[in-house]
Amino acid sequence: MEEMNKKLIDDIINIVRECGTIILNADRNKSSIDEKAGHANFVTSYDKKVQERLKEKLLAVLPEAVFVGEEEDVHASIEKGYAFIVDPIDGTTNFIKDYHTSAISVGLTKDSVQYMGVVYNPYLDEMFYAQKGNGAYLNGRRIHVSDNLLKDGIVIFGTAPYYEELNRASFELAYDYFKKSLDIRRSGSAALDLCSVAAGRAELFFELRLSPWDYAAASLIVEEAGGKVTTVEGEKITLGESCSVLASNAKN
Ligand code: IPD
Ligand code: CA
Ligand code: CA
Repeated sequence: MEEMNKKLIDDIINIVRECGTIILNADRNKSSIDEKAGHANFVTSYDKKVQERLKEKLLAVLPEAVFVGEEEDVHASIEKGYAFIVDPIDGTTNFIKDYHTSAISVGLTKDSVQYMGVVYNPYLDEMFYAQKGNGAYLNGRRIHVSDNLLKDGIVIFGTAPYYEELNRASFELAYDYFKKSLDIRRSGSAALDLCSVAAGRAELFFELRLSPWDYAAASLIVEEAGGKVTTVEGEKITLGESCSVLASNAKN
């Protein structure tokens, strides 16, 4: 890895790890919960707190970048130059429930193409990261997608909880994959689901609509681990707007 890029990704990793302690030390009794549009779509004071800290620290290491955070009201264009695409807590419902399956996700794009991705599960102290062209890593060790066929594989899906019109189709597709695979999983964090495919823990993941902050980082991690990421229809995923996501070990 080039020196400058090595320093940049190390800086991002350190910032994300530090912000993980905000999640671990959160006092749920003191966390205000607000509802956003859609079914069971919440934002807590911790989502905002983590995002603020990430914004301040990330822009200090790369001041020329724009910052696109889930909890911001207006989302800047990622078209030109560097852009951080950030989900401060992916798995907010899990966080509220103290379910211990949530992550911080920081993607960095350059001219709207994935450049770096960092996804951190503070509960397990698992740091997934990738830089374009340099492979994918978990806590410093190279990771790869599995070689399994779908019939010997696990399929993870997201229910598209905030989009009622997609719920039934999500479960129908999950049923099809259930019949073709060993079994189905649903974790509550799309970023961690994608990292599970990257690490060879599962063979396929799909969700019928996600936002760029859910997959900007982890989709690069899957690709750098040898996997494939497209929309469910097989098109290129979009980083500037929502789309469906289908990630696999490229054997299926
Ligand atoms: C959600 C999680 C969930 C997925 C939803 C996402 P949030 O993110 O990734 O697994 O099913 O579509 O929106 O709201 O917890 O950041
Ligand atoms: Ca999310
Ligand atoms: Ca979130």
